[in-house]
Amino acid sequence: MDYKITLAQESDMMEIFELANDPLVRQNSFNQNKIEIEGHKKWFSAALKNENCFFYIIRNGADLIGSVRFDFEKENQFIIGIQIAKKYRGKGLASKIISDTGAKLLDARSGAKIIAHIKKNNDGSLKAFLKSGYKIIEESQSYILKYENRQ
Ligand SMILES: CC(C)(COP(=O)(O)OP(=O)(O)OC[C@H]1O[C@@H](n2cnc3c(N)ncnc32)[C@H](O)[C@@H]1OP(=O)(O)O)[C@@H](O)C(=O)NCCC(=O)NCCS
Repeated sequence: MDYKITLAQESDMMEIFELANDPLVRQNSFNQNKIEIEGHKKWFSAALKNENCFFYIIRNGADLIGSVRFDFEKENQFIIGIQIAKKYRGKGLASKIISDTGAKLLDARSGAKIIAHIKKNNDGSLKAFLKSGYKIIEESQSYILKYENRQ
């Protein structure tokens, strides 16, 4: 499927709010609480202004496929989060989206390291990250995976 990746902008705020409150997205997040609109608005605007946050929106035409965010952790290391809208799940898009957005981050931040935290029962996510070249570096209550571009 053809899709376009752009940086998030204010006009994406409500669709990202809905996606963030999707039941599977909440279930697989480390904070499972429902997201309230006021908090979301502040958080979203701050994320857009943060030059160390790389927030990508993936669309099929005007239709939202999902989002990927890279949050600065330390030095040149970022934590990735991915959410795909329900109707686009299970189509094998996740690993390509992880790779394509990771390539964009690496264009912007050469040599960046990327870390993913994945809950133990989130098999689809684990598979998608492994397929994109991420390696498990720690397994305890959750999985921690790392991606390092070797080129
Ligand atoms: C995780 C998520 C991004 C995966 O996207 P997806 O479109 O469902 O995944 P894909 O269709 O690309 O499938 C990836 C792989 O996992 C497998 N898979 C998908 N769902 C699965 C499930 N529930 N159980 C086991 N395997 C699953 C697929 O068969 C595929 O494996 P394959 O490449 O060997 O065929 C998506 O389900 C999602 O947004 N979930 C909610 C948010 C979330 O969990 N984010 C990740 C937090 S770390």
